[in-house]
Amino acid sequence: MTDKHKKFYGSLAGDTYLREIRRFGLRYDEMVDTLVDVVQVHSPSSILDIGCGIGNIDGLILDKLPEAKITAIELSPEMADVSRERLVGYRGIDVICDDVLYYNPTQKYDTIFSNLAIHNFPHDDKEKLLSKIKGWLKPNGIFLWGDFMDWHDKKVGQHFMDYRRSKVMESSVDKEFDEDVFAKEEKDHRLTVSETIDMLRDTGFHNPDVMWTYKFLAICSARND
Ligand SMILES: C[S@@+](CC[C@H](N)C(=O)[O-])C[C@H]1O[C@@H](n2cnc3c(N)ncnc32)[C@H](O)[C@@H]1O
Repeated sequence: MTDKHKKFYGSLAGDTYLREIRRFGLRYDEMVDTLVDVVQVHSPSSILDIGCGIGNIDGLILDKLPEAKITAIELSPEMADVSRERLVGYRGIDVICDDVLYYNPTQKYDTIFSNLAIHNFPHDDKEKLLSKIKGWLKPNGIFLWGDFMDWHDKKVGQHFMDYRRSKVMESSVDKEFDEDVFAKEEKDHRLTVSETIDMLRDTGFHNPDVMWTYKFLAICSARND
């Protein structure tokens, strides 16, 4: 899994990433605004970002919480390099290039978040990751999980995906690239909102909740003991 994902995300590193995630995410900026807002409400001192991409979310958080310390883990070396360049002016950031499943922190965090990364993980790896995240959080720490979602109602799901495809294609400059992304997505491991909530509960998190949702995107949150 990691080589394929490394290559795919590495090829998007830089300004291309934001352009494409906005096209394919449709409401990406609204999602990020909400995530940043929720992080800010808890005013954490220590934060872990899993799958930071180009580090745009970390920059937005540090603009609001300049005293916070963020550790950002990113699998793709190209993405990690772009994050470091983008965030060079911020004191509180440490970008680590690694597969999060091998990450072994020496500290615990007030808040851990991951946006649009965990759908890449097969079910067993998701379970492994979630129990690690629980172990990396301080008591009462918050986990925020933003991701692409699946649906139990396949008919409505197909309708949303058809709508998304038509929007993506309206703004297409490279149809072959767009089809490649859709083909990659066929192999993703998306959960429904209720499966996400169940997985959080089964891992032992408390008060799992849905903070925001739009057609095929959602942010869920949960609290450690
Ligand atoms: C769609 S991007 C999301 C980036 C950013 N979080 C955002 O919301 O814009 C997913 C990122 O997760 C990273 N990723 C995927 N699997 C990972 C893993 N096992 N460990 C660390 N990062 C991973 C990818 O390399 C990619 O940069």
